Amino acid sequence: MKLWGGRFTKDTDQLVDKFNASISFDKNLAEYDIAGSIAHAQMLAKQGIITEEEGKQILVGLELILKEIREGKFVYTDSLEDIHLHVESRLKELIGPVGGKLHTARSRNDQVALDMHLYVKDQIKQICQLLKEVQKSLISLARANQDVIMPGYTHLQHAQPVLFAHHLLAYFSMFQRDRERLEDCYKRTDMLPLGAGALAGTTFPIDPQFVAEKLGFKNLYSNSMDAVSDRDYLVEFLAALSLIMVHLSRLSEEIILWTSWEFGFIEIGDEFCTGSSIMPQKKNPDVAELTRGKTGRVIGSLMGLLTILKGLPLAYNKDLQEDKEGVFDAVETVKICLAVYGKMLTKISVKRERMLDACRHSYTNATDVADYLVKKGMPFRDAHYITGQLVQYCISKNCALDDLSLGEFRKISPLFEEDVLAEIAIESCVAKRLSPGGTGHAVVELALKEAEQKLALY
Ligand code: ARG
Repeated sequence: MKLWGGRFTKDTDQLVDKFNASISFDKNLAEYDIAGSIAHAQMLAKQGIITEEEGKQILVGLELILKEIREGKFVYTDSLEDIHLHVESRLKELIGPVGGKLHTARSRNDQVALDMHLYVKDQIKQICQLLKEVQKSLISLARANQDVIMPGYTHLQHAQPVLFAHHLLAYFSMFQRDRERLEDCYKRTDMLPLGAGALAGTTFPIDPQFVAEKLGFKNLYSNSMDAVSDRDYLVEFLAALSLIMVHLSRLSEEIILWTSWEFGFIEIGDEFCTGSSIMPQKKNPDVAELTRGKTGRVIGSLMGLLTILKGLPLAYNKDLQEDKEGVFDAVETVKICLAVYGKMLTKISVKRERMLDACRHSYTNATDVADYLVKKGMPFRDAHYITGQLVQYCISKNCALDDLSLGEFRKISPLFEEDVLAEIAIESCVAKRLSPGGTGHAVVELALKEAEQKLALY
């Protein structure tokens, strides 16, 4: 007998039971569902909608169910559809018909919305913590290699030399925005939908403010129809998770490149690599590759939810049951990727000579040659042209810019003087970039300090 079976004369087709059921995944929400029911029951008793005694019996029953769930003794079945009906039906088994009073002034529509709000609030806190661990690892990797210089790239072509630490700090900033984005999303998740009933509110004298305080919600929804059909916070959450994955995926791509023979910039500790079943020499950056790959499913969940919502009329529609699996999967994916990255980043060793060498033989100091001429009074456009000719000359001679003699420099412009070689040395190219947010050692030291402060702050 279904809990909603009164107006039905025939049993549900078994295939429909299977099709309709969400219990296989919404059992993830069990603890939140019970927490919500406890607050709801307390409110019903406080408002005199049920008696104090009935309230107490319901609480005892709910505590017992929570214990069964935690001990893995709770029985799940498709015919009870979802976690809400499972808990309610078990409650009646345990405490008798009074269990049927729990659902007064409530619908599964506002109940499931409440569960998801509680779940997402919890997950946001956990994911922010994991992001922070990744940021910490980035900073410790940067600190351990603070004066290492590498080629900075545009178009994946060598551009200008930068500090490795500067490169890592760029990712620190991305993850900082990710944390801030989640905190912002938290504000719109921190709203209590319970009290909306099925869609129109309720005839009972409920006190949603009391429930909000019990469950730690800052705000109430101001419209009951919005409360049961709003999934915006899930879209925002999935968008924030997608962006975290995009950031991890970009970092993964770089790590994969840097570990290749062609780059040879870094080595990842054995604990975070895998081998090949046929090629004995192989050491593969699987963690980075898998992270890059898993980005697809998180973005997929975001697209899936947007597609579900598009065209849905108010208020609750069963389509909304499809919001959960994508969110759960995205959460698990992001959490494991962040956790493994937080550890792997601390196991990276840097090949500083190889990185520096890559800067020297690819004219990454050409901009500095042009800037040198500008500082001697030449318009930048002319300096750019002349330096281009110098690069062409070096290519024909197969040498680096800093291999040229003063005589060779002066042949192309008399503005070149004794100091040119010191000025265009790779280390000096980096050290001189002291503009705000630049890669100069002093600016990066400041940026590292600021980053460390951010981590200490929250
Ligand atoms: N399992 C449902 C969901 O996840 C719960 C709400 C069902 N409401 C209803 N009227 N059938 O969306």
